[in-house]
Amino acid sequence: MNIIFLGPPGAGKGTQSKLLEDQYGLVQISTGDMLRAEVARGSAIGQEAKSLMDAGKLVSDALIIAMLKGRIGQDDCQNGFILDGFPRTLAQAEALDEMLKADGKSIDVVLFLDVDEDILADRISGRFTCANCGRTYNEVSNPPRVAGKCDACGSHEFTRRADDKRETVVERLKEYRKLTAPILPFYEKTGRLHSINGMLPTAEVTAEIKAALGEIPKITQK
Ligand code: AP5
Repeated sequence: MNIIFLGPPGAGKGTQSKLLEDQYGLVQISTGDMLRAEVARGSAIGQEAKSLMDAGKLVSDALIIAMLKGRIGQDDCQNGFILDGFPRTLAQAEALDEMLKADGKSIDVVLFLDVDEDILADRISGRFTCANCGRTYNEVSNPPRVAGKCDACGSHEFTRRADDKRETVVERLKEYRKLTAPILPFYEKTGRLHSINGMLPTAEVTAEIKAALGEIPKITQK
């Protein structure tokens, strides 16, 4: 089963794909996380991406398609994956279909997390992430069970993203409206698009997603 999460910044793509990864044994592939790792390493990709990410702009299709192609070719993706943050443009969506077709594979379902724009900035500015395992929290809607301690791994260290400043979020939303929202019809016309109400509490969003996915046999080996 290969899944795509689509939705604006802060819609809950990372939160929900991490939950599905655990429950269905699929591999989450977050292009944003991959780029942030490249930036942290100071690699050539990271250097090219950093200023664009800091400005809330998308990185080039050529760079991101090459990066994604390398990732989904790896062994751990062969049982299925969840794409979080890819595709973001029509060119990326078309390239993805082509690269999967060449391997006799396809995207089974596209989950669009529908959230009103006016709550996204608040969600994003309240976001923080465990520095050890990457679990995402929110100051208001989703704090750790014990303040200052990660529910998943117990770490006490948390980070905030450089592009989560309000002015950058405005730019990210503009990029979403201009370049990413127009790919929804691409998936709608092939019957793969399911719209999910992303305004509900996290557990209810997960329940809607599971209903959309139906019964998928749990894959025990990644
Ligand atoms: P990326 O890292 O992909 O960021 P994004 O798409 O902007 O999405 P976010 O990670 O901000 O939000 P999310 O939907 O995952 O929400 P989350 O679950 O964290 O991309 C960053 C940058 O990298 C881009 O700007 C671009 O420069 C570059 N890039 C990446 N991929 C690219 C590509 N394919 N092409 C070109 N450039 C690319 O939730 C947000 C907050 O809300 C959290 O605090 C969470 O706890 C909370 N929350 C979640 N669900 C709920 C709920 N149901 N109710 C209440 N609160 C909730």
